[in-house]
Amino acid sequence: MSADLPRLILATRNPHKTAEIRAMIGRRYEVLDATSFPDWPVIEETGDTFLENATLKANGISSRIGGWVLADDSGLEVDALGGAPGVISSHYGGVEGDHPRNNDRLLREMQGVADRRARFRCTMVLAKDGVAHAHFCGTVEGRILEEARGSQGFGYDPLFAPEGGSQSFAELGDAVKHSLSHRSRALAQVVAWLEARADARG
Ligand code: IMP
Repeated sequence: MSADLPRLILATRNPHKTAEIRAMIGRRYEVLDATSFPDWPVIEETGDTFLENATLKANGISSRIGGWVLADDSGLEVDALGGAPGVISSHYGGVEGDHPRNNDRLLREMQGVADRRARFRCTMVLAKDGVAHAHFCGTVEGRILEEARGSQGFGYDPLFAPEGGSQSFAELGDAVKHSLSHRSRALAQVVAWLEARADARG
């Protein structure tokens, strides 16, 4: 990391999100997250949508810290499950952040289901001084596999094969995932928006 780079503060405690965002834009921004700010408050995600939750996180953290704050709220939407797990993706199996349990539940719910279409959705909100300035959305279409495959990535990656192939994100690995993921598509818009603004370096 370099003091010469503009700072982008991620309103997240999820090390996987930070690692992905850092890998995607780390040469242009100094990407920091909750690990650099031990006294950050816990922001309850009480919204009904990704946008509401991302806004809560971005506004809540940026009201306490200077500079641009970026929040990512994301999840998996499965057509045959009416869009579930959706906003409860991180605790679908009953325990916050327990990815094996989440995946077990998803496989159970999808047992014998022929329509396996699904997408990852990522909503990002940029805020400063407690005020949201812009939001961005990225999606990637795909299908839910019959069993977990691969060991890279995180969360539902072993169960999700992006459109056009049968390998999961966890098999395809970071380079492929970052070239087409919901997160990379939202982040590309964030970077373009920041770079188009004169005050982006603040
Ligand atoms: P959030 O922290 O409330 O936004 O929840 C995000 C949850 O969605 C994660 O805990 C995962 O369960 C799921 N998720 C979001 N993005 C990804 C991804 O890129 N791969 C796999 N799972 C993801």
